Amino acid sequence: MLYLKDLSYHPPASHSAILKNVNLTVKPEQLTLIVGPSGSGKSTLLEILAGLAERTKGDIRWRDQELTSLHLQQLSGLVFQFPERHFCGGTILEELRLGHPELMSDRIQQALAEVGLEQLPLSTPPQALSGGQQRRLALAVQLIRQPHLLLLDEPTAGLDWSMRRQLATLLAKLKTHWSLLVVSHDASELLDIADQCWTLNHGELAHATPESLKAATGKTLISPVN
Ligand SMILES: Nc1ncnc2c1ncn2[C@@H]1O[C@H](COP(=O)(O)OP(=O)(O)O)[C@@H](O)[C@H]1O
Ligand SMILES: [Mg+2]
Repeated sequence: MLYLKDLSYHPPASHSAILKNVNLTVKPEQLTLIVGPSGSGKSTLLEILAGLAERTKGDIRWRDQELTSLHLQQLSGLVFQFPERHFCGGTILEELRLGHPELMSDRIQQALAEVGLEQLPLSTPPQALSGGQQRRLALAVQLIRQPHLLLLDEPTAGLDWSMRRQLATLLAKLKTHWSLLVVSHDASELLDIADQCWTLNHGELAHATPESLKAATGKTLISPVN
């Protein structure tokens, strides 16, 4: 269980705080969904939880332990928005082995099986995969490290309707044995698989229900703005 207490982030370059007194509990084997418009602070929150940015104020605890950025780097696995843009391995195998060449092939096969890519030859270049397969590979790259917390930034962005559905089905399966924290500006497919929902607006986190978010999604669909 990960606890965030009064977490704030206010870098000197910013006029106002980007995250304001965020309180959140991420429970094991659940999918926690945070929905917010562009610029609301979603990616910043994930960067702090991945240990890539230092909070200005507040506590992050895992069970009873206060966590530093270094702890968070070990504990969390962050899948960036458009992760396929950051692939740098020439093959699936190289991509999975980046940073840990010692990994045995059973761990590699296990990670690929978790995301449903076990049928593909390991020599396949990541660029040869479909958009949906590339997202699955990016997930496997993090799962192979066996993080306690999987952080996903806009996992469905840029995918078509059917790929978004497939990804939601995969995330529903993954949450049965991982803790997932997903942020998105577009909740649609993710609402049905979320165990707890929140909204983020101008750095302020507020509890939400899938119903209230569904109603809000309906409005954005009708409105030409956004
Ligand atoms: N290090 C920083 N210094 C100043 N402003 C920042 C910094 N990091 C992010 N921001 C600003 O914080 C706001 C939130 O950004 P971001 O977390 O990327 O939002 P989202 O992912 O919800 O679109 C944006 O206005 C962005 O320009
Ligand atoms: Mg973002």
